Amino acid sequence: MSKRKRIGILTSGGDCPGLNAVIRAVVSYATSEYNWEVRGIPYATQGLIDRKSVVLNRHGIERHGIDPLLSMGGTILGSINKGDTEAQADEVIAGYYDLELDALIAIGGDGSLAILEKLAKKGNMNLVGVPKTIDNDVACTELSVGFNSAVSTILDSLDRLSYTAASHDRVMVVEVMGRTTGHLALHSGIVGGADAILIPEIPYSMGSLCKRIHHLRTLWGRKFAVVVVAEGAKTAGGESRYYKDALGEVRLRGIGEYISTEIEKNLGVEARVTVLGHVQRGGAPSAYDRLIATAFGKTAVDVIAAEDYGKMVAWKSNHVTTISLDEVFENSPRLVDPDGFWVETARSLGIYVGEEPEAHDTCSTQQNGHHNALAIETATTMLN
Ligand code: F6P
Repeated sequence: MSKRKRIGILTSGGDCPGLNAVIRAVVSYATSEYNWEVRGIPYATQGLIDRKSVVLNRHGIERHGIDPLLSMGGTILGSINKGDTEAQADEVIAGYYDLELDALIAIGGDGSLAILEKLAKKGNMNLVGVPKTIDNDVACTELSVGFNSAVSTILDSLDRLSYTAASHDRVMVVEVMGRTTGHLALHSGIVGGADAILIPEIPYSMGSLCKRIHHLRTLWGRKFAVVVVAEGAKTAGGESRYYKDALGEVRLRGIGEYISTEIEKNLGVEARVTVLGHVQRGGAPSAYDRLIATAFGKTAVDVIAAEDYGKMVAWKSNHVTTISLDEVFENSPRLVDPDGFWVETARSLGIYVGEEPEAHDTCSTQQNGHHNALAIETATTMLN
């Protein structure tokens, strides 16, 4: 009789809603369908380095027949998103073998999965990746676990902020996460009724943004406006806004404040900024995230059964597929396509999403600060 398989599962990088739902699907399916042993590795690669693991089984994750993992935010395994894993490569690999794992499912973003894949190649580890990130920037998958929930959380805030903005005739600037990509801002801005969406992929002009807000007030009689800005969007001069925390880590933060101040200066209207921060990463997963988390977890187990390692499960055209991790890294991060469907849709609804291609040469301050200063000046003169 062949030895019972033992598989490990870990969560790596920033947490997000739906991680526990993936764990639940893996445990449920791997134990019932294949009779494998599933070991949870705490704190990602640190658990391998420390040779730590916990046995996960359906019985352990169910309470009175109810399975709380499906709806629980965060990750029961803990996660880390810093540290020099590559420098400890040999220890990570040795941990995998000391724990006698036959395969490892890593739920991570493009950064963590890239590092793990490198280690897997070096140490001959059998790795399967599951994409997760609220940023939705992992390449070769239309969706990563966590994105849909984060969009819903932002939407809830935009709904609330719109009412208070309308009551006070204010411009509300809402800074959302997304690192160097604008998927979160774009999707939440569309569903949340934003008037402008600023993302890292498309340069904007302060003049055009102010003009748009001014038109809302004067032509449409709408005295309030909502601007969604991605944390990675750049200033009119093309710089990122960030700070260094007490531990010396660089954190993207401050573009919302910048935009809000510029709007007040240029238009003479009241603006307020809300930085949503880690609220976007918390809470229960949405129905759709539970669905893809379940589909990903189930498929990751099947990939191990087929011994088709070095793959990531991915979401394409409403079903799960697999793709080589190498291909994923060659194409990550997945950026918003400035000419794509969602940008076009937003613009066709009158949302300002940065300068349109033909206007780049004359208006984009990221390409030419002087032109942008002129654009602001022109718009301001026009408005006065
Ligand atoms: O990658 C996910 C993400 O939430 C980004 O959107 C954000 O910039 C970053 O993580 C925040 O990381 P941390 O939790 O380390 O502050």
